[in-house]
Amino acid sequence: MKDKCILITGSSSGIGYEITSKLLDLGAKVIGIARNYDRSKLENKNYITYKCDVSARKKLELLLKQILKSHPEINCLISNAGYGDFGPLENFSTLNIENFVSTNLTSHIVITKLLLPHFKKIKMGDIIYIGSEAGLLGAKNGTLYCAAKFGLRGFSEALSKDVARKNIRVSIINPGMVRTSFFENLNFEPGNNEENTINIKDISSTIAYILNLSRNTIVDEINLSPSKKVIKFK
Ligand SMILES: NC(=O)c1ccc[n+]([C@@H]2O[C@H](COP(=O)([O-])OP(=O)(O)OC[C@H]3O[C@@H](n4cnc5c(N)ncnc54)[C@H](OP(=O)(O)O)[C@@H]3O)[C@@H](O)[C@H]2O)c1
Repeated sequence: MKDKCILITGSSSGIGYEITSKLLDLGAKVIGIARNYDRSKLENKNYITYKCDVSARKKLELLLKQILKSHPEINCLISNAGYGDFGPLENFSTLNIENFVSTNLTSHIVITKLLLPHFKKIKMGDIIYIGSEAGLLGAKNGTLYCAAKFGLRGFSEALSKDVARKNIRVSIINPGMVRTSFFENLNFEPGNNEENTINIKDISSTIAYILNLSRNTIVDEINLSPSKKVIKFK
């Protein structure tokens, strides 16, 4: 992985943090984006972090220009930042809906659009989205979350067809429940047993596996599910 310089959104906690830690261990350089790194203890000379809200479009655009200028060696994007919000649709204000879609769908599209010219210029790139099982099957109270994740999945599939011949590989990983702070502000969480969640390290190993395949092989999509799915209401 020593030849990889990877931009990871949402690297401050949970899945993004774990992926960052694994890829740094494997020798990659990582550029992280999140709003707050106070809870993140990861220190490594190959890890540089930038604070930004990915839904703040103008700031994000300026930041990405700055990042590409400072780190023209970037050759990979792991687009992971996101949050969950669930409930009947009428409970969301239109502003809630806009913010939700902006973070969980539009930001992935915008970051990709801003990086694509660079990947085309260097004639290579890897893009991996963290989707969800919610992008595979509609779930009760999941209108917004499913809309964003179904959308991301469609975007990923279509983009891959546009850029595969430019040596840019696009993949999406759709995990089931993983024990992270994702559930902190929700009224449910995974059951208490180990089998009720995916091992977070299996997601970072999947990322390493995808990146290590020969360049003419593209992993379109990988779904990861816990062996015994249990949802516990708080
Ligand atoms: N946990 C699960 O069961 C599960 C299952 C399937 C898919 N996923 C997906 O996995 C991804 C990561 O979730 P997680 O479980 O790791 O949750 P998490 O521990 O809450 O991590 C979310 C990450 O996204 C960042 N983030 C959220 N909103 C942001 C914003 N507006 N701007 C910049 N960064 C933002 C957070 O950083 P800051 O708060 O510092 O900004 C944090 O680093 C999400 O896309 C989620 O939909 C999670």
